[in-house]
Amino acid sequence: MKNHTDLTSARDGENESLWQISHPRLEIKPLKENTIYDVVIVGGGITGVTTALELQRKGKKCVLIEAQNLGFGTTGGTSAHLNTFLDATYPEIDSDFGKEASAQLARATKEIIEMIHSNIKALEIDADFEYKDTFLFSQNQEETEQLKSILSSSQQAGVKVSEVFENGIPIDFQHVLLFKEQAQFHPIKYILGLAREFLKLDGDILEHTFVENSEYKDDIHYIKAGNITVQGRHLVWATHIPPGINILSLRNAPYRSYVLAVKLKNGDYPNCLAYDMQEPYHYFRSHEIDGDQYLLIGGADHKTGHDDPEKAFSALEKYAMENFDISSIDYRWSSQYYVPVDGLPYIGQFPGGDTNSFVATGFNGNGMIFGSLSAVILTDLILGIENDLAKLLSPSRLKPISGFMDFVQENADVAYHFVADRFGTEIIQSTKELKNDEGKIVELDGKKLALYKDVNGQAIALSPVCTHAGCIVNWNASEKSWDCPCHGGRFATDGKVLTGPPRKALERIEIHKIGQA
Ligand code: FES
Repeated sequence: MKNHTDLTSARDGENESLWQISHPRLEIKPLKENTIYDVVIVGGGITGVTTALELQRKGKKCVLIEAQNLGFGTTGGTSAHLNTFLDATYPEIDSDFGKEASAQLARATKEIIEMIHSNIKALEIDADFEYKDTFLFSQNQEETEQLKSILSSSQQAGVKVSEVFENGIPIDFQHVLLFKEQAQFHPIKYILGLAREFLKLDGDILEHTFVENSEYKDDIHYIKAGNITVQGRHLVWATHIPPGINILSLRNAPYRSYVLAVKLKNGDYPNCLAYDMQEPYHYFRSHEIDGDQYLLIGGADHKTGHDDPEKAFSALEKYAMENFDISSIDYRWSSQYYVPVDGLPYIGQFPGGDTNSFVATGFNGNGMIFGSLSAVILTDLILGIENDLAKLLSPSRLKPISGFMDFVQENADVAYHFVADRFGTEIIQSTKELKNDEGKIVELDGKKLALYKDVNGQAIALSPVCTHAGCIVNWNASEKSWDCPCHGGRFATDGKVLTGPPRKALERIEIHKIGQA
């Protein structure tokens, strides 16, 4: 299995994904002092990069700020499917938002695939884009009923779909739908191509710059990262959940999905995208990297911080072995996405946030499509252009939940006072029980501590209390991170933030002092 080396496209987990590549550093110029940007975009995944480019193309002066390197988050761990059918099915959208909403989304998702394709062609990005036939298949009567309803709603929405008698992969099926003109691509090569164009158009990028907070005063956002302050008239949080305690945290549940990239003994790689209808569903596609073919098999999704990631990988590997003749599993990784409570993403003005601040989140398993669609919608909103989908996907469709803010604030205020000296001996004992490169939550006299022993046997002790709203993090043995079960915040083994909404590292407990006590 591949782990991080010195790839320039690092990601937010220990396992290497198929998309991580070494590439020449982007030619980034230092920012000019005292520039007031038209738009500051925080977050360098597909949402942030595409938004920055769209706005810069329209004449806005933009800066894109990323805490690590571009594509460090979900864009570096997606399986990069591009679909006109969504995790929220068209029957569900019909019933919850109306048939016109389904038709709007069917049109928009088709246009987004075309937009990605046309960016790739126009900018000559070598991003492995291919249109593919896509199969959605049922394996029992209940799923077949759902599939028939999906067929009829999708056709009414204007999606090109028909019934067929094959599913493109060697897995038994009962009934199959074929969606035409779906696609796949290489997400990191794509966003790097967009970023190069953005720089060429005189956009600015700040990588390895972690935004801690922002303030809005006299029509200007002051975005603070260490000793840097960036100023802008508009602010886009392209970070999944925006920072702070806000209602979007409650309306989006963080999930992790697992992916294997395997080689097949018979060399017969499917030339399609395919999905079953299990809960959670499995997804399949092939991709060639540096002359090697891989089959990608994904699934085993669960809420972040709720289940054992190693068990999820084992289940997925077992399933893969049972269904394909696999010669090797070359990559395995997991990635995070956010499931919105009503099925559709939240794209637009940040509810309860500062004036002229925007969010884009809740993309479900359709992050490449909705991330790109966010760029189109946010560009229109910032330019004051009417956009048909802006109302449907407005984050303000949220109904405030009474007592929510009190609840979260109360959680955040639960002070966690770990009295290190008192537990010195127990901590040392717990550390001995850990293997190298292993972490564990230990409980001492009713208090919890996040303990990790690094590859050299050095222990790092952290407060396990998430700095966002006070939940207790869990150890992710596969990606070597501390994952919060509440809103998906994730922290590295030294406590640094890997994934928001938290903006502060986990508190470090000085373990060597304990040893001396
Ligand atoms: Fe919200 Fe941890 S991410 S409490």
